[in-house]
Amino acid sequence: MGKKQIFDAKITANHALSERYSMLTLQLPESVGEMKVLPGQFVEIRVTDSPSTYLRRPISICDYDNMTRVMTLLIRRAGEGTCHLCDLPEGSAVDIVGPLGNGFSIPPEGSSALLAGGGIGVAPLMLLGKRMKEAGVKPTFLLGARTASEILLLEEFSSIGDVAISTDDGSAGEKGYAADNSALSKHYDIVCTCGPKPMMVGIARNARRNGSPCEVSLENLMACGLGACLCCVEPTLKGNLRACVEGPVFNTDMLLWDL
Ligand SMILES: Cc1cc2nc3c(=O)[nH]c(=O)nc-3n(C[C@H](O)[C@H](O)[C@H](O)COP(=O)(O)OP(=O)(O)OC[C@H]3O[C@@H](n4cnc5c(N)ncnc54)[C@H](O)[C@@H]3O)c2cc1C
Ligand code: FES
Repeated sequence: MGKKQIFDAKITANHALSERYSMLTLQLPESVGEMKVLPGQFVEIRVTDSPSTYLRRPISICDYDNMTRVMTLLIRRAGEGTCHLCDLPEGSAVDIVGPLGNGFSIPPEGSSALLAGGGIGVAPLMLLGKRMKEAGVKPTFLLGARTASEILLLEEFSSIGDVAISTDDGSAGEKGYAADNSALSKHYDIVCTCGPKPMMVGIARNARRNGSPCEVSLENLMACGLGACLCCVEPTLKGNLRACVEGPVFNTDMLLWDL
């Protein structure tokens, strides 16, 4: 696992993808060196100039290029902290700790993989899809959203693999929940998912029915993000594990979910 570091990164672009989502492009300083980032890892960002946001906020690493040290983060306006991050002007600096947590597994060359994300949960699937493609695995993405205008990064995902879509209102792809999409009706060598818990439970149930191993990225509430406060623990077959250190990615065989 890559060594975690603390550094200031410069926002070189802030692109609003819709009313609720923004994509931040960050230039990391030379001091980070060859930082090893696993797909599924996250960073903790300090939100300055937001007096009631005391704690850093965990945000998945959407993409990272080791050569240029450019990182992208996809942010959804959830509350004060994330709204503040979405409104940061280009040229400003953010104080970051990372990379944190573990990552998703990359299956062997020639394997089949389904990467399913709902809403902001698509964020870690970009780097994961790229790493899988580099490893000779062509991923199928399953993107879930409330409506067509909230399907994020469709062009980028389409350039990496096949894309299946579910929208609640049927304005794009299949109408209904991602967990009910027909792409889930077959076996994959791995299913990786990130999004709201009911969606991940549905995806994991389908994966189990088809004999596919399944990894989920938990978005448990986090405070320290460093393993000290225990506010993010997840009950597992190995006892309570910290989502910020032993996770956020867990194989569903480890979890006590009712699948
Ligand atoms: C490992 C991990 C990776 C994440 N990756 C991303 C990402 O790539 N992009 C992104 O926009 N968000 C991501 N989140 C969620 C993000 O951290 C929260 O939305 C954020 O901390 C909320 O802070 P706030 O100050 O905006 O809102 P607050 O005022 O603190 O909360 C606003 C609302 O958001 C809910 N909320 C708070 N924390 C979380 C959480 N961890 N998960 C879901 N809902 C939460 C609160 O319950 C409340 O309803 C991630 C969370 C984790 C744990
Ligand atoms: S957030 Fe503090 S231990 Fe995980």
